Amino acid sequence: MSDVILRATGLRKHFRTGGGMFARQSTVRAVDGVTLDVRRGETFAIVGESGCGKSTLARLLMRLLEPTDGRIDFDGRDISDLKGRDLRDLRREMQFIFQDPFSSLNPRMSVGRLVAEPLETHHPQMGREERREEVARLLGIVGLRPEHADRYPHEFSGGQRQRIGIARALASRPRLVIGDEPVSALDVSVQAQVVNLLHDLKAEFDMTLVIIAHDLAVIRHMSDRVAVMYLGQIVETGTTDDIFAHPRHPYTMALLSAIPEPVHGRARTRLALSGETPSPANPPSGCRFHTRCPFAREDCAQRVPELRPAGPGGQHAACHYWEEIAAERPDAGTPPAHERKPQAAARFALYEAAIDRLNDRPETAVNAGANDMTQQEEDRR
Ligand SMILES: Nc1ncnc2c1ncn2[C@@H]1O[C@H](COP(=O)(O)OP(=O)(O)OP(=O)(O)O)[C@@H](O)[C@H]1O
Ligand code: SF4
Ligand SMILES: [Mg+2]
Repeated sequence: MSDVILRATGLRKHFRTGGGMFARQSTVRAVDGVTLDVRRGETFAIVGESGCGKSTLARLLMRLLEPTDGRIDFDGRDISDLKGRDLRDLRREMQFIFQDPFSSLNPRMSVGRLVAEPLETHHPQMGREERREEVARLLGIVGLRPEHADRYPHEFSGGQRQRIGIARALASRPRLVIGDEPVSALDVSVQAQVVNLLHDLKAEFDMTLVIIAHDLAVIRHMSDRVAVMYLGQIVETGTTDDIFAHPRHPYTMALLSAIPEPVHGRARTRLALSGETPSPANPPSGCRFHTRCPFAREDCAQRVPELRPAGPGGQHAACHYWEEIAAERPDAGTPPAHERKPQAAARFALYEAAIDRLNDRPETAVNAGANDMTQQEEDRR
């Protein structure tokens, strides 16, 4: 059995926009040639600025959007052209957790119905009583109580709603779960609880997780490997440790330099980016990052860099000059204390403290810990 559960090869999604009376037609290259491997059992993070194509990529991987070009393999099988029943069967194996727990749950369905629905679709052989028990079990696993089944989404806090979304995603017993910013709509302390819940569930359910996030604190705590996206393309991949310790692509360096030095990290020098992010409807020639890259050379505007090995641990970077840049800036990444943005520093510290508190909790069972957390959330409302 291959250790790759999900593979994308040359994946593209181009949206045609405009073309009406007042707007010129243009093509938005939201995802533009993404190749990646997700390994069985890992947490794989996709990070990048707003609009770089993360959600589009996630939807392509789930086959919620038709690709313009490219191929997707799930568990060694080409799923690029699956239709009808085959696609429905695939949905059982791959589930999605949405960013917004307020709009992603049908407000007219009770929590019990919301969690029972995927059971009915994917496990139709299950009897009524068995399904009711399974709903209660799933609610317990995500830290809700059986009596919550009779309530409606508006009666819950954001964190609790996200737990309902997670219970719904788990109902079909998926092997892969993709979360598109699953915690970014929540308060930091609730985020930490949901992040830990997902982490525990991943082990318990023997799942693979793909997490989309723009928050580097979340990624550092959750993920085994990271892919960094810029304007529809992946510019760097590697283990989370490698990426945070020695980013090789100048864009990754800039992303990391916007956060404070992590508790156990080294001091680094700050790398500021100039200019706006260009539009994916009109991406720059050559290296797409050349209009903002502090290290750009003349030929960067002409030559397209391929992702190529950038370290012994499987790190890859799409930069012609990463070797020279790394030699110049061995400490690239997060800034020294006096240059940290106070807001980011406070946020990172809060997050680490929240995670530490959870890790110190005496309960070992997912249920026990999670139930306590929900109680705290309820108390806070
Ligand atoms: N249906 C669509 N039609 C036209 N353009 C789209 C469509 N969906 C996304 N886009 C565009 O594609 C680009 C990538 O969007 P996407 O939502 O994938 O980015 P993202 O990285 O998830 O951003 P965010 O962090 O803000 O969620 C953006 O320029 C967006 O405006
Ligand atoms: S290829 Fe050139 S422009 Fe692109 S990241 Fe490397 S140095 Fe910068
Ligand atoms: Mg998005």
